[in-house]
Amino acid sequence: MKKKNTAALIVHTKGLEALHRYFAKYRENYMTKKMKDDTLRKLFCWSPPAVMSDFTITSRSEAAGSIDGFCIVATFLPEMLLNRHEEVISKIEAALIESEKRGAAVASLAAFTSIADGRQGEIVSRVAKSMAVTNGSTFTSAMAIEGIRKMCRILDIDIGAANMAIIGATGSIGRTCSRYFMGKTARLTLTGRKFEKLEKLFGGYPEQYSNLFLTDDNNGAVADADLVISVTSSIQSIFKSDAFKSGAVICDVGFPKNIAQACNDRDDIIVYSGGLARIPGDIEHLDVMGLPANNICYGCMSEGILLALTERLDLCTVGLDDIPLRNVDLLTDMGYEHGFDVAPYFNDYKYYCAEDFDRVKRAREALASSACV
Ligand SMILES: NC(=O)c1ccc[n+]([C@@H]2O[C@H](COP(=O)([O-])OP(=O)(O)OC[C@H]3O[C@@H](n4cnc5c(N)ncnc54)[C@H](OP(=O)(O)O)[C@@H]3O)[C@@H](O)[C@H]2O)c1
Repeated sequence: MKKKNTAALIVHTKGLEALHRYFAKYRENYMTKKMKDDTLRKLFCWSPPAVMSDFTITSRSEAAGSIDGFCIVATFLPEMLLNRHEEVISKIEAALIESEKRGAAVASLAAFTSIADGRQGEIVSRVAKSMAVTNGSTFTSAMAIEGIRKMCRILDIDIGAANMAIIGATGSIGRTCSRYFMGKTARLTLTGRKFEKLEKLFGGYPEQYSNLFLTDDNNGAVADADLVISVTSSIQSIFKSDAFKSGAVICDVGFPKNIAQACNDRDDIIVYSGGLARIPGDIEHLDVMGLPANNICYGCMSEGILLALTERLDLCTVGLDDIPLRNVDLLTDMGYEHGFDVAPYFNDYKYYCAEDFDRVKRAREALASSACV
């Protein structure tokens, strides 16, 4: 069989804690004698890009076979985006150059590696000579949308009668999810940091969709939402657990997380890590990226694997243009065909199970009946 494309997944760490966890894998008792944070920060940021794991992924479709790939770490920390921006860009470019040298045909820019250049990977991808580069927003959006649809089936929520809020709607993934759900919910509230930007992007829609609301007030937007997709690039949590109404479902797509760490005191809502896929194979060390199993992967990373497997490098996307919704549908279908699926629902604390779903269903019923009294 012809050798398939190799996929490079350009990743970064959530922070120093994740790096400590990685070292602990290789040195017993490391956690009791950790490297000092300052020393680790310096060493890490001086380091060139490093391959974290090599992998082979086999499609469920026998005819499609397997691809090889590797995860390569761009050695910056998320907070460096605030004051060491140029350095972050060089780090991402170095990881792309190294990936091409190692024979990758396609590179997926994961999380902040696609955001950092302000052009969704268009600028950093210029260092690639013949390697295709994709920003992962299409498949991440696909998995966020599918995750919400599937959750609504589990909880018997009628999307058409639900209020939805999309937080960070001006971004690449947020905009795609917003366009997808327009006209499909009872009310759709979209937020961004700047109202003018929201108006520029969505101001033309309200006449057509009278249930569309734009605001820069994140808390106001979620207060009455049944369904929330939070997909901002904020480097810290932006919601407290009391922001959400009882029975709400919150899909937290952000990396680092927008919400999950703050909500473990609420068992009447579901806050899960969204935009993720279960992939048809394992990649070592995904736990250091906050993932609970080696076959659960961020949508952005999964996109590179899927496009390499299907040899559809023509579907790679960088830049700020709207992502065609037909590509979201296409990648969703291609994903299912090759053994990719929405990841199980989990957050930093647990996997959600049938008991949790029942409890949230009851919370929703209680709220509905109190509203009728
Ligand atoms: N789960 C996954 O598989 C996965 C995959 C890829 C990416 N991600 C993560 O998803 C997030 C978004 O990615 P993206 O590519 O869509 O980024 P993006 O295009 O840069 O969009 C991020 C958006 O968040 C908005 N934002 C930032 N802080 C905000 C706040 N406090 N309140 C409201 N909006 C705020 C920004 O608004 P402005 O317009 O004002 O800048 C921007 O529009 C990132 O955290 C990324 O790491 C997750």
